[in-house]
Formats: sequence, C-alpha cells, structure tokens
Amino acid sequence: MNQEFLQNLKNQAISTIIETKSEDELEQLRIEYLGRNGKITQLIKDIPTLSEEKRKIMGGLINENKKIIEDALVSQKNNLQRQSGNQEKDWFDFTVPGIKPKIGNLHLISLTIKEISEIFARIGFNKVSYPEIEWDWYSFEGLNMPQNHPARDEWETFFIENLSHPKYGNAVLTPHTSSGQLREMEKVKKTLSTDRQVPIRMLNIGKCYRRQIDASHAPMFYQFEGLVIDRDINITHLKGTLDYFVKQYFGLKRETRIRPFHFQFTEPSFEIDVTCIVCGGKGCSVCKEGWMELGGAGMVHPNVLENGGIDSLKYRGFAFGWGVERLLMMKYKIDDIRLLFNNDLRFLKQF
Ligand code: PHE
Repeated sequence: MNQEFLQNLKNQAISTIIETKSEDELEQLRIEYLGRNGKITQLIKDIPTLSEEKRKIMGGLINENKKIIEDALVSQKNNLQRQSGNQEKDWFDFTVPGIKPKIGNLHLISLTIKEISEIFARIGFNKVSYPEIEWDWYSFEGLNMPQNHPARDEWETFFIENLSHPKYGNAVLTPHTSSGQLREMEKVKKTLSTDRQVPIRMLNIGKCYRRQIDASHAPMFYQFEGLVIDRDINITHLKGTLDYFVKQYFGLKRETRIRPFHFQFTEPSFEIDVTCIVCGGKGCSVCKEGWMELGGAGMVHPNVLENGGIDSLKYRGFAFGWGVERLLMMKYKIDDIRLLFNNDLRFLKQF
C-alpha cells in the first residue's frame, strides 16, 4: 500500500460514483468501497501491519480519502433524488395555489383620457383624434395666426425641415389640439349635407409637442380640445360646460371662473381657473389666492369659422383646450410631470 495506490483508488471511486444512474447502483458502490469488506475498509484494517512511520502518514491519508468518497456518495444521492423528483411529471397537486400572472394596469394618462372622454360623451361630445404632424395652416395660419405673427412665439413649435405643402405650408409637430378645430369643421362639411354641417360637438384628444421641459412641462404632452358650433351659442354655454366638467372630474365642490385673456383664434378669450384642490378656495401656499389655472378657452373667432368653411353670420361656437397631465396632476397632487414619463412602476402601479 502506498500513496499513489490510495490516490488511484479514490479517483476511481469518484468517477464511478458520479456516473451512477440510480440509488441502487450508488449503494453498490458504497458497499464496494466502504462496506464491511470494502476496498477502503480493507486498507483501514491493514494499518496496524504498517511500520510505525508509515502508519502515521497512511492512517491520516486513508481517513481523508474515505471522507471524500463519503461526501461524493451523499452529493450524488441528492442529485439522483432531485432528478427523479423532476421526472414525476404525471403527478399534479391540484390543491397548490396557482401562480397568478401579473396583470398590468393602464397608465394614469390613459385612464384620465378615458375618464375625460366619458364625461364629455355624457353631454354629446364626439371623440376624435387628428394628426400629430400637422401643416402650418391647421396649427397657426388658419387659426388667425399669420406667418411672423408674434402670437406664434407662445407655442415654441418644432418645425419639420424640408417638408411642406403647397397650400398649407410647413409641417410642424402640432403644438396644440386646436388644429383639430379646422379639421373637424372640414370633415363635417365634407361628410354631411349642407343643412346638417352643424351642430358640432367635438372632443379632440391628442399628443402635442413644444420645446419646453421642467417640472410642469414636457416636450410631448396631451391636450383635450372641445369645440361646439351651433346657432345662438354664447359664453354661458361655455361656462356651463366647463362647470359641468370640473364638477364631474374634481368633485361637486369645485367651482370655475373665467378670466379675460388673449388668443388669436377666439374672441373673446379666457383663461379658466378652478378653486384650489388643496384649500378649496380659501387661499393657501400652493394657490395663493384660492384659484388654480386650468387652461384656455373662448368664443371661436369668425375668421376661424370662415376658414373652416362655416358661415360666421349664421353660426357661433366656443372652444377650450387644456392639458391632460396638468389636470391629473392637480387631482392627484403630483408635483412633477416627468414622473408620468419615467416609467417607474413603483409610481405607475399606484393608479
Ligand atoms: N390652444 C390653446 C393652447 O394651447 C388653448 C385654447 C384652446 C384656447 C381653445 C382657446 C380655445 O394654449
């Protein structure tokens, strides 16, 4: 007996152990090496016959190798048991609770668009959506904002280079949903007979683009635009519609007020304020005087009606255009618009 012999014996044992396919085979090997007459057991029995010097060295080595073989037997036994567990495919425990697939939820912006559409649908508004890439005519010129008019500056528009229409001018990423006003008037004119061109009750919801970014502005955002055209439409219809919407969306206690403003495409024009959702109108650090600004509105300018092919002597209209994000940020007290676009599920799952 020497070290090399022992080494070979151990290697042989390990290589056959890891090849075994069943626990029976493994048991055979255990007996072959570690059983009462096993190869390793035999070596242990022989230790007393060795010289004193050899006895010390070989005694330690034999025990070390015996331990290695025992460990290999245990780990192979575990492997075999794990494999056979996996193979028992026919067995299925119907009582184990299932793994529920994760169901996503709509984004807060989509939910809000749905809610806004439903509120307006109840008073007869027809939901539409118009191009995000628009011609200058629909976004500006036709809305009473000729080329070089300073009012255009407010819209911080992205113009698209080398793309223009002979009649409608340059292509732009539409900076507001008001472009849908002219498109709706044209569509109604094309599809309905002359005496049914109006009334129009349109709700245009879509993406808009402006060169702006901070806590309350994103370069891409959503607006919803209302347009009503009929005979004898006046400011009280506008005020009533906005009151109705604000009470439906924010709750019955909210009130609105209209404040004089200027837009080229409405005359007169207003900004709409709503009583502060934090203090309810008393005045607080968020709103200062009790009111929060929602967005623009006004009575459709006669030039715009004519540009849309509608007789401005017979018909009048009102329009309003507000930001979807601004609205929901007020309702849910969200202080940074970028939270809506960062796609952080910890935030989005809350709604
Ligand atoms: N389009 C205007 C804006 O983006 C809002 C508006 C719409 C104002 C309709 C009046 C009428 O600021």
